[in-house]
Amino acid sequence: MKSLKKRILSGMRPTGDLHIGHLFGVLENWVNFQQTHDCFFMVADWHALMGEYKRSSAISKAIESNIADWLAAGIDPEKASIFVQSDVPEHLELYALFSTLTPIPWLERCPTYKEQLQELKDKDIFTHAFLGYPVLQAADIALYRAHQVPVGKDQLPHLELTREIVRRFHHIFDCDIFPEPEPILDNQRNKILGIDRRKMSKSYNNHIGLGSPKEELSSKVKQMVTDPKRLRLKDPGHPDDCNVFTYYSFFEPSQEAEVKEWCEKAQKGCSECKSILSDHMNEKLEPWREKRKYFLDRPDDLKDILQAGASSARIQAQETLSQVRDVVAWRKFYDV
Ligand code: TRP
Ligand code: SF4
Repeated sequence: MKSLKKRILSGMRPTGDLHIGHLFGVLENWVNFQQTHDCFFMVADWHALMGEYKRSSAISKAIESNIADWLAAGIDPEKASIFVQSDVPEHLELYALFSTLTPIPWLERCPTYKEQLQELKDKDIFTHAFLGYPVLQAADIALYRAHQVPVGKDQLPHLELTREIVRRFHHIFDCDIFPEPEPILDNQRNKILGIDRRKMSKSYNNHIGLGSPKEELSSKVKQMVTDPKRLRLKDPGHPDDCNVFTYYSFFEPSQEAEVKEWCEKAQKGCSECKSILSDHMNEKLEPWREKRKYFLDRPDDLKDILQAGASSARIQAQETLSQVRDVVAWRKFYDV
């Protein structure tokens, strides 16, 4: 029987090791969607390559460590299809078909494209593929006929483009194959910020890696910025202006009231407050580190999971592509 659950597809680019921002911002949500939706979670290695083609070997390393982190987070191959984009070649075929009908100005005016060109000036991404990045993303989503796509706010223009491409496809080929996908934004709670209170990102080096060992984690927490108005131990602090306090809400919410009190009454100094936080974080992340290591020590298991995931993804992908070839009237008079 066909599942009545709505289908979700989401993806992550394997550009490096994951950090705690991915855990709270993304993976936690994915784990919950496994109960309520028919889920496809994809390692978007082609997308990574489109920006990082000069570091292609780093991408394959990141695939392994990212998958280990997904599994450690509770992404379950029994409940969701977990696969690597490049293991399902149908993505590229639909991408090529979509690119035949996507006007270049749609891509050139995409805000993410303009921003990235500005920001990553030293990176040499003035390429055909980088311009076409959202067309591949549209193909990813359409291939599984996903209804909903959990993404960060920065990805909204890509979702909008996906809907436009899908509509144009339906119009040109007079059909209705793909749902127009809706984004699901993560707005349930604030994002965890980097140790300098900017967005957590490896490129700012303000992140705390999911696999980072105890000492490294503690040293990162020591470097965290705190309430800028609290200069001396006897100054009362303002926890609502302090990133350390926010971290408590993620790692030890039961202690929030207590922290608020010791901070506002200047009963404890920031370094003590941070060292208690580090202990909580290490305690929470220790089982994670173990699970992650468990999977990394078993590359054959990872391989089996990804092969099975790719097979089940391909079944869906081929079904969609066969319908697509029908409406495009792209049926040959011979079999190959
Ligand atoms: N572009 C997304 C990002 O950078 C990754 C991605 C690729 C994706 N394909 C996708 C996300 C399909 C959702 C659906 O985060
Ligand atoms: Fe932040 Fe804790 Fe210092 Fe208060 S005591 S300012 S919450 S680090």
